[in-house]
Amino acid sequence: MSDQQNTQDQTEASEDSTANNSSLLQSIMLNSAALGGFAFICTIIIALTYINTADNIKQQKKLAQLKALYQIVPKNFHDNDLLTDNINLHVEQLGHRNAQTIYLAKQQGQPTVIVYPVTTTDGYSGDISYIIGVNIDDNSIAGVRVVSHQETPGLGDKIELRKSPWILSFNDLSLENTQAEDWTVKKNGGRFDGFTGATITPRSVTRSIARTLNYHQQFIDQLLKKIATTNQKKVSNG
Ligand SMILES: Cc1cc2nc3c(=O)[nH]c(=O)nc-3n(C[C@H](O)[C@H](O)[C@H](O)COP(=O)(O)O)c2cc1C
Repeated sequence: MSDQQNTQDQTEASEDSTANNSSLLQSIMLNSAALGGFAFICTIIIALTYINTADNIKQQKKLAQLKALYQIVPKNFHDNDLLTDNINLHVEQLGHRNAQTIYLAKQQGQPTVIVYPVTTTDGYSGDISYIIGVNIDDNSIAGVRVVSHQETPGLGDKIELRKSPWILSFNDLSLENTQAEDWTVKKNGGRFDGFTGATITPRSVTRSIARTLNYHQQFIDQLLKKIATTNQKKVSNG
């Protein structure tokens, strides 16, 4: 093979390699652009879904809360309008992330039960939100109902009344009839049952209930005054 032929072959090979490199680069750029576009569209879809469902989720939580509210204070146990006798407050001791509605049940003008929405954050998996009714006359528990949680089905979800009667074990208890050290699960020396293989969830709810009773004892008088003032303003504003 002549030198001239060799040089020509080398030139053609180099041109081929340059063409291959540039088509590889083009293909990488195209794929990257397609991937970037796909990720962008996915992000938009997720953001839109979140915006569209956020309100709905909030409404569902509110409905679940109202349903639980009427379980704790059935309609024949109060004669006032719970949707008027309430106050929106952001109480950090109750685990609130934003203002929540505290309801007051009355019979013939006398406060009977106050219902606090509470969130506990040291469960197994995210926030556990529940409401707790406290009898005004003796500061005992009228009832507790879990409104939302993400605990594991079959393990931590026994805090729901439809899964187990565990939540009813708090009925009638108070800081007067139950010692401070009893407000935890039996495994930690307290009086409340844990769940098989799941102690974190019931311990979190139990301790949070005791914290709520402490808050109640400290602030009930101020709260009753505040609710009465807010209610008067609502009535005079029509
Ligand atoms: C997949 C998985 C899910 C779990 N879910 C829960 C739960 O929802 N609630 C809970 O209390 N423990 C749950 N546990 C068990 C806890 O990790 C822990 O072992 C148990 O609560 C005992 O806690 P203790 O060591 O403080 O007694 C889960 C464990 C696994 C592996």
